[in-house]
Amino acid sequence: MTGLPWDASYHDGPAPWDIGRPQPAVLRLASERGFAGAVLDAGCGTGENALHIASLGLSVLGVDVAETALAIAREKAGDRGIEVEFAVVDAFQLEHLGRMFQTILDCGLFHTFDGDERARYVATLASVTDHHGTLYVLCFSDRGPDTGPHPVRQEDLRAAFNPGSGWNVAAIEPDRIQTRFHDDHGAPAWFATIKRI
Ligand SMILES: C[S@@+](CC[C@H](N)C(=O)[O-])C[C@H]1O[C@@H](n2cnc3c(N)ncnc32)[C@H](O)[C@@H]1O
Repeated sequence: MTGLPWDASYHDGPAPWDIGRPQPAVLRLASERGFAGAVLDAGCGTGENALHIASLGLSVLGVDVAETALAIAREKAGDRGIEVEFAVVDAFQLEHLGRMFQTILDCGLFHTFDGDERARYVATLASVTDHHGTLYVLCFSDRGPDTGPHPVRQEDLRAAFNPGSGWNVAAIEPDRIQTRFHDDHGAPAWFATIKRI
């Protein structure tokens, strides 16, 4: 059932977070060769980030619970001639994929989860990430002004991705997330680089 409300966000034109292009933070990371090996984009939406990474020649799987978003993503891939895979998968059940990834991108998914959900998500992410693999989380931060919905504190990231759950936070840097409801500067964000132990 979790997919249905999310799917509705994509029914009447672009969702508030769907800017129709990759997030600048993802473009920067890609230009710095931050993505390697098999890449998973968790909560990929209509796929702009996944499509950009795949256009660089990497193997990319984008997963989301919103079928409408994935249909749009597949259409864009076809139109642009980019080879990329999109699948309806619940990010709380990634182990069902039966696949491992060297790099994972979470652009705007972690910050939608609360308490218990975060622990479940972190565990299932760990189950599909290679040892020494890298997770990048771009999420709304609590450092205003003009914070986005569900802002996350640095401590929240460090608490969720702790060594006991199989992760080591390598860096958390202030960044921006572009949305359709902020001005050109976007919303304050954290860009976290997290290593699988
Ligand atoms: C804020 S949007 C970000 C979408 C995309 N990453 C982007 O940057 O445009 C969060 C996305 O996560 C998806 N999502 C929410 N819960 C999910 C879950 N349990 N499993 C997979 N995807 C989920 C939503 O459908 C939505 O597309």
